Amino acid sequence: MILGFVGTGNISSDVITGICNSKIKFNKIYVSPRNKHKAQKLKKNFKKVFIARNNQDVIDKSDWICLGVLPEVGEKIIPKLNFRTKQVVVSFISTINHSKLKKIINKNVKIVRAIPMPPIALGRGPIVIFPPDRQVKNFFNKIGTTIEIKSEKLSQNFWATSGTMAAFYELLKVLSDWLVKKGLKRNQAQQYITSLYSALAELAVVSSKKDFNHFVAESQTPGGLNWQGVNQLRKSGYYKSLESTINNILKRLNKK
Ligand SMILES: NC(=O)c1ccc[n+]([C@@H]2O[C@H](COP(=O)([O-])OP(=O)(O)OC[C@H]3O[C@@H](n4cnc5c(N)ncnc54)[C@H](OP(=O)(O)O)[C@@H]3O)[C@@H](O)[C@H]2O)c1
Repeated sequence: MILGFVGTGNISSDVITGICNSKIKFNKIYVSPRNKHKAQKLKKNFKKVFIARNNQDVIDKSDWICLGVLPEVGEKIIPKLNFRTKQVVVSFISTINHSKLKKIINKNVKIVRAIPMPPIALGRGPIVIFPPDRQVKNFFNKIGTTIEIKSEKLSQNFWATSGTMAAFYELLKVLSDWLVKKGLKRNQAQQYITSLYSALAELAVVSSKKDFNHFVAESQTPGGLNWQGVNQLRKSGYYKSLESTINNILKRLNKK
């Protein structure tokens, strides 16, 4: 199998890194020349990665094509590309829906929308796909956990929650910066925060049959530090604001 990537940006680089470090069987990966720096880095790091001459060259050489460009770029370039019948197109593009993709690709190809996230580079994390597809599911299950969604409208909710990734890192940054301001060394602060939050998430993963109410309740004692932390943030509207932010992201997605 030959894989192709149109748009060699952040998420394509992460997916390619995950694939090249996994047990997925493939012959070659062709990437489009943009971004030049990222394409060259991937070629240098992985011997099965090659840089195609242009976007059409990626498509001509590949069986599966991943679309990793921004929506406005996709709308401009995809209609001009010539796909072959029976190719598999996996689109990472956030706001071009399935029916629009079908229309602008205008060929009898299999189209699956996917939401890979950066930890895919480590072979971890969720990959939501729509529509469900066994082949694509099995592929992504080798570099993460595939979640198949039957309705595109429901899959939009995952796109919305995926929009909180930077906010999550901002939370870690605020906590780490606070420790530094209090006199701790940057590396100690960062080590503490990353180790704490990754372990807490790991604990929730291994006990995933229990819902999050359990973790909220179990991690506080009345009048204790965590009780103060969660209640003060609740009172300040922190979590309400998080919910309204996700609602606004969803509104934006549904407008497209
Ligand atoms: N980042 C994530 O975590 C993530 C997760 C899931 C889905 N997505 C989706 O994946 C898509 C890409 O996101 P990204 O974060 O990877 O963005 P990105 O880093 O900006 O990557 C987009 C790439 O497209 C290239 N490009 C621009 N014009 C092009 C053209 N005409 N032909 C071919 N390539 C072109 C850009 O090259 P230049 O740098 O040279 O302009 C850039 O390398 C978006 O639709 C996003 O919503 C992202």
